[in-house]
Amino acid sequence: MEVIICPDADEVGRVAAAKVARVCADEERPVLGLATGSSPLAIYAHLAAKVEAGELDLSAVDAFALDEYVGLDRNHPESYASVIARTVTEPLRMDPARVHVPDGAAEDIEAAAEAYERAISEAGGVSVQILGIGTNGHIGFNEPTSSFSSRTRIKTLAERTRLDNQRFFSSLEEVPTHCLTQGLGTIMDARHVLLVAQGAAKADAVAATVEGPVSAVCPASILQHHRRATVVLDEAAASGLRLRGYYQHVYAHKPGWQRFA
Ligand code: F6R
Repeated sequence: MEVIICPDADEVGRVAAAKVARVCADEERPVLGLATGSSPLAIYAHLAAKVEAGELDLSAVDAFALDEYVGLDRNHPESYASVIARTVTEPLRMDPARVHVPDGAAEDIEAAAEAYERAISEAGGVSVQILGIGTNGHIGFNEPTSSFSSRTRIKTLAERTRLDNQRFFSSLEEVPTHCLTQGLGTIMDARHVLLVAQGAAKADAVAATVEGPVSAVCPASILQHHRRATVVLDEAAASGLRLRGYYQHVYAHKPGWQRFA
């Protein structure tokens, strides 16, 4: 696992966007794995700037979002279908037909979950999966004690997650109780995983992910088993790490040919 500590949240976005761009350049048919929430917004802004500058073309790239609420109209402004359209598809000039979000409104939710897994695999698998992390250590909406081998399925949101996401809705009652999320097994199949975190509220979850035991109590800790996991943090999110100085030393001495930012 590579841990990169940046001076501020915008630099987290710049470095992580450079990693995404590098993976896209290295693969013939790249497939993006998208996260919603606040954490990846700076990545999308930096990627949009690259698209604007003509340095990156994502118009023929397939993309798959991690998750979607169940029981929320697809056209609700906070459905992840709406959020992805607003924050990713449009600014990154992607083809809406190639940008997929799980169908949380499906009548047969299990069939929708299976169809989503199939679509990812038919696209060739995810090249780089962008991830935020919940304050309880979730990735996607794989809440604590999620199976490490889980696939896309319906999950009940932890109350902690509903409280954290209340800021996007007018009341806690409006926050859905269920979601359709890629599983930890699905996420681990991506060829690269890229987790970003900013702010002190994420420090405990980040420390448990990077330096804690691998345990389903902190679902993101499974990333310790990924061959190509990159974690990009601001100082506040990194503040709980014991080996901070070591990560900074390693990054400062990273060979030029391995650098992407
Ligand atoms: C979003 C997702 C979640 C978020 C996490 C952090 O698609 O899967 O795991 O990444 O809840 O959310 P923010 O970034 O809003 O703090």
